[in-house]
Amino acid sequence: MIKLLSKPEYEEHIANNRDQRMDWWREARFGMFIHYGLYSLLGRGEWAMAVENYPIDEYKKLADAFAPKLGAPREWARLAKQAGMKYMVLTTRHHDGFSLWDSKANPFNSVNYGPKRDIVREFVEACREFDLRIGFYSSLMDWHHPDSWRCAFDSAARKRFTDYIYELNRELLTQYGKIDILWYDCAKPMDSWEGWNSLEMNQRLRELQPHIIINNRSRLAEDFGTPEERITVMDGDWEACMTFNGLSWGYVDSEQARPYSYNAQGIIRMLNRVTAGGGNLLLNIGPKPDGSVPDEAVEPLTTVGYWLQKNGEAVYGCKQRINFRPSCVCGTSRSENTVYLWNWIWPDAQELPLGGFMTPLKSARFVHDNSPIDFEQKGHRIILKDLPQLSPDEHAGVAVIALEFADTPQFRRASYYPQLNSGQVFDV
Ligand code: GLC
Repeated sequence: MIKLLSKPEYEEHIANNRDQRMDWWREARFGMFIHYGLYSLLGRGEWAMAVENYPIDEYKKLADAFAPKLGAPREWARLAKQAGMKYMVLTTRHHDGFSLWDSKANPFNSVNYGPKRDIVREFVEACREFDLRIGFYSSLMDWHHPDSWRCAFDSAARKRFTDYIYELNRELLTQYGKIDILWYDCAKPMDSWEGWNSLEMNQRLRELQPHIIINNRSRLAEDFGTPEERITVMDGDWEACMTFNGLSWGYVDSEQARPYSYNAQGIIRMLNRVTAGGGNLLLNIGPKPDGSVPDEAVEPLTTVGYWLQKNGEAVYGCKQRINFRPSCVCGTSRSENTVYLWNWIWPDAQELPLGGFMTPLKSARFVHDNSPIDFEQKGHRIILKDLPQLSPDEHAGVAVIALEFADTPQFRRASYYPQLNSGQVFDV
């Protein structure tokens, strides 16, 4: 039995060891979210059971037809590694209540039905093989369990249901060795941490995995925020989770989803925004019914991986936030005295003027090959000179330039009037 802390004591305790626990996560920047479960067989999104009013018995039949091919989790992990991702988060059990592991608490699982295999174990082994950190998504809401809706108004049902949820998570955190992330979702129908017993549950779970990082969806703030389908900078640690196509987390037909899906440039732009804002990107794929990677994700993620091999310096470990735009055709990120310019549109003038830097520039270079770039600095203006005619990035056309300043870079935001910007005419 552990001694339970009060909420303020617990929050202080986890704040005190947070830097140490989250060091790897803050450097990782990029992870893969996997929404895989019975709903992949329907191909209409992971909410199909609720949205289409499936009777439980009819939905249950999908469990017998569920047939992940051998080696599917290895495919996800291989692609994640190739894409430059550093961790994966799998829906061990989504809202439909089907567990992808050998659960004693929940007989509705992939060992009793369908493949008769422990998919979570295969996932964990694949992550370890490809040296990826391991995250478990765990739904709080459950459309299968008889107490899951009664728990809102019946205290005996609430006790049974929260015990059940704890037990599922206890299994997940004791059967597979070290787990890095616990990713809760959808705390419905109770609307408080007291209702979910989250304070006690999370303390007990942390006791089992002292290094674990927990998200903010059990109605406690815990370790990181989770903006969904939007990249919104938050104070503290945060991770934007994004679908691949803006439509669905679970599998939908690849050919039809392709036009809605991200290409490599779209993913690189998201990486830029999270890096500049001090967050992570958890980019989802919804595997096909047999567990294969959806086709439309392969080329973009592979390209991003090649791009990151050359330009990862502008992403991983860029711990300083930056909210400054020296040109309308670039994004920025920052590590200490270095500002990285992500060139979305390559200038055809073979020069690139940048405004608003107030610190002396020491050097400029391309990140992909470290070749130096000539420049001039006058007032708040830097002009990069003698640039190649075409973007030198062969993978995505997004060349990155590192500007190394003599000191912590200071910026001056552009005003509406260039006359007010120069620092020479009027210094306002
Ligand atoms: C939402 C949805 C869910 C999805 C999740 C991912 O809460 O209910 O289907 O798994 O977001 O963040």
